[in-house]
Amino acid sequence: MPVPWEALIPFGLLVTMFGTGGTLLNASKRAQNQGKPPRYHLDAWENMMMERDKRLTGHPRAQRDEPIAPEGFETSSVWYTEKVSYHYK
Ligand SMILES: *[C@@H]1O[C@H](CO)[C@@H](O)[C@H](O)[C@H]1NC(C)=O
Repeated sequence: MPVPWEALIPFGLLVTMFGTGGTLLNASKRAQNQGKPPRYHLDAWENMMMERDKRLTGHPRAQRDEPIAPEGFETSSVWYTEKVSYHYK
């Protein structure tokens, strides 16, 4: 059976390029989520919880276990007067 050796170079290029792109995308997404996998298909409740976590900790993916809220938490919320598109990744 003849082997198309000449096809192996572009095949290797494609595998390498897709692998590099995927790995960089994975690393970028994780860097934006403090090393955690990104969240998908978030509903309004989950977005509100991430907004609260951001007010509590400074980052939407961070969490804390102290029962006392930090200074200024009670005044840091926003009353939205128009529809806001939550867009945390
Ligand atoms: C992304 O990176 C993490 C941690 O390095 C790894 O566990 C995970 O399998 C990777 N995901 C993909 C799709 O490569």
